[in-house]
Amino acid sequence: MGAEKRWFFTLFSAAFISLLFVLLYSISAFSSSKPFPSVVHYGTHHPPAFAYYISGGRGDGNRIFRLLLAVYHPRNYYLLHLSADASDEERVRLVGAINAVPAISSFANVDVVGKPNRLSYMGSSSIAATLRAAAILLRLHSGWSWFVVLSASDYPLLTQDDLSHVFSSVSRDLNFIDHTSDLGWKESQRIQPIVVDPGIYLARRTQIFQATQKRPTPDAFKVFTGSAWVILSRSFLEFCILGWNNLPRTLLMYFNNVILPEEGYFHSVVCNAPEFKNTTVNTDLRYMIWDNPPKMEPHFLNISDYDGMVQSGAAFARQFKRNDPVLEMIDEKILKRGHNRAAPGAWCTGRRRWWIDPCSQWGDVNVVKPGPQAKKFEKTIKNLLDQSNLQRNECQ
Ligand SMILES: *[C@@H]1O[C@H](CO)[C@@H](O)[C@H](O)[C@H]1NC(C)=O
Ligand SMILES: *[C@@H]1O[C@H](CO)[C@@H](O)[C@H](O)[C@H]1NC(C)=O
Repeated sequence: MGAEKRWFFTLFSAAFISLLFVLLYSISAFSSSKPFPSVVHYGTHHPPAFAYYISGGRGDGNRIFRLLLAVYHPRNYYLLHLSADASDEERVRLVGAINAVPAISSFANVDVVGKPNRLSYMGSSSIAATLRAAAILLRLHSGWSWFVVLSASDYPLLTQDDLSHVFSSVSRDLNFIDHTSDLGWKESQRIQPIVVDPGIYLARRTQIFQATQKRPTPDAFKVFTGSAWVILSRSFLEFCILGWNNLPRTLLMYFNNVILPEEGYFHSVVCNAPEFKNTTVNTDLRYMIWDNPPKMEPHFLNISDYDGMVQSGAAFARQFKRNDPVLEMIDEKILKRGHNRAAPGAWCTGRRRWWIDPCSQWGDVNVVKPGPQAKKFEKTIKNLLDQSNLQRNECQ
């Protein structure tokens, strides 16, 4: 009898506890229910959207996450690439951090490359990875107008509302590519040497090989070089990737054996294609400080450079050290971004309290509201596209 009673008691308490769980679960599911995503509209009657490719190596997961939040907007698309030297654990951690942001998990517009590429410094594996990213973004999403290449050491100097607002009045065929055919010292040191990137065919990471022989500068096409940091139109990328014309492929084969091909590939394709050579704007829209003569990389920017950056009217700046205090300044003064939160825009409707993320609730995501940095950026763009400067933009 005693045993039976005990058995009843156990059964009863188990039933009670499970009921409690069901109740608690339904309460928590109700209170944390995500707002339904507002409908995203694309096309010429709406502000333009951007497809961002952000890449980095081992240990860059946190920086990539921070940069993603700084350039996040529900209408854009993002493809993040942690190269093969980063561990799968770091990749999984990045995915976890992304999914914990309510807007990102609701709009599902951020992807992380699951099978990463091996990237060799200065070799062709990086241009291969960029082309792959562009191909994925073209294939998955039809709404975006421009492809933006960023690295983990970059940061924006304006909000996405600013960028989209200013680009609303720009022809969506334009390609922002800093370029020149005046090769200078690069002709003998970058264009004529023949290199092979082992990242393309060896599983371990090694340096690029350099052949002892040099080759003549091409004369079947004109070589252009410039900044690796490009903003490309959708139509130009379709031309590069879908491949009905042989030019993009021929140049890719040639640039496979050039040092730092990302400083010449898109530049040479766009300027040798009659249907695209009138679409270039000669700028990379980045703020960088170089040594004279330039070293391989620009200076690391810090607090002393803040005013210069803000006044520059550039869209992005590079490069920054991990968690440099100046990034905190940009977050606070330009992006109004809280720790581990997306940079707010007109789409965020949550109340601004320190304990509430304003972007955990949203309204119409198709409306953008420019802030003070948009004025400076607009001036930069107007200046670049001014009649008196058009010649500067031509491929020559
Ligand atoms: C460039 O030239 C083509 C004709 O070759 C023309 O259709 C196109 O509108 C021009 N684009 C710009 C941005 O001027
Ligand atoms: C910022 O960097 C420059 C060199 O690039 C250096 O001279 C300056 O002292 C740095 N400023 C701070 C606040 O660290």
